[in-house]
Amino acid sequence: MKTLVGCATDTAEMMIEAIVNVGILGCGAMGRELALAADSDRIPNARVVALFDIDEKAVAGLSADLSNPPTGYSDIDAFVAHPGLGLVVECASQAAARAHAAKILRTGAALILMSSGALTDPDVYEEMSDAARSSGGKVIVPSGAIGGIDAIRAVKHLLETVTLTTTKPPLALSGAPGFAEWEDREITEATVIFDGPASEAVRLFPANVNVGATLSLAGIGPTQTMVTVIADPDAPGNVHQIEASGSFGKFKFEFINEPHPANPKTSYLAPLAAIEALRTYCDTGPRIGS
Ligand SMILES: NC(=O)c1ccc[n+]([C@@H]2O[C@H](COP(=O)([O-])OP(=O)(O)OC[C@H]3O[C@@H](n4cnc5c(N)ncnc54)[C@H](O)[C@@H]3O)[C@@H](O)[C@H]2O)c1
Repeated sequence: MKTLVGCATDTAEMMIEAIVNVGILGCGAMGRELALAADSDRIPNARVVALFDIDEKAVAGLSADLSNPPTGYSDIDAFVAHPGLGLVVECASQAAARAHAAKILRTGAALILMSSGALTDPDVYEEMSDAARSSGGKVIVPSGAIGGIDAIRAVKHLLETVTLTTTKPPLALSGAPGFAEWEDREITEATVIFDGPASEAVRLFPANVNVGATLSLAGIGPTQTMVTVIADPDAPGNVHQIEASGSFGKFKFEFINEPHPANPKTSYLAPLAAIEALRTYCDTGPRIGS
């Protein structure tokens, strides 16, 4: 017999596995990768049924590239009310996450949140947690452009220091409020642009250091996790170095990520991590790693 998640109808009658009806909030670089993965057999138990973006062309363009065209929405309330929506992947912006996450969760749908910086605001964290608690919805924050989050979570209560050093080519930092005074200056060598707590880094580099938010939320929190942002014209990619220490020992992780071809601010690993999070949510087999 089938198990229905998110009320898939018609053809699901004959299916044994659950089908999760997925909505994509944000049809940019990451939303596109995710939707294409769910549209293919990479995530067999997911079906993209709804798209939303403030850019209607992004919705139409992505919809046209999917073999099972979903419903495109330009109104968030209509998107959230899509019949049988089981899970929404937010891959838009911190502002979108702040504005819409609780509303989505109140419907009982699960939420995969990529703009994790939004959760470093205690009010937003509380609002999302309350909404999820009241409806049974779940918030999932994928590890995104880094790894090691499972280990950080496991030693959370023993952590003493956690640092993140993010090095990107200047182009990848362009547009960030924290980069404003550097926009018209030539950067010819590795230059420290920011050094401070993750809570501040997330505000100044909203599209660049979601990894700092994710790392801090998994560990000792946004005010104690220290972030350094470096602009380096010779950076081999979007590089994230993490060091953590405590009575458990020491961790060092380094990620040298290729930028996503459609958005140099986003590392290619980030959509891959989102796809894996969605696949895991939809899969009924053993889950490897915490
Ligand atoms: N967690 C991580 O490790 C990680 C890594 C990379 C990127 N990100 C974040 O994921 C998000 C998506 O990244 P991307 O590379 O796909 O970005 P992108 O700029 O390529 O696409 C974002 C899309 O969202 C849309 N959008 C923006 N604000 C919106 C709103 N308020 N409502 C509806 N649609 C809106 C835009 O029109 C655009 O089509 C960004 O917030 C980015 O910072 C997280």
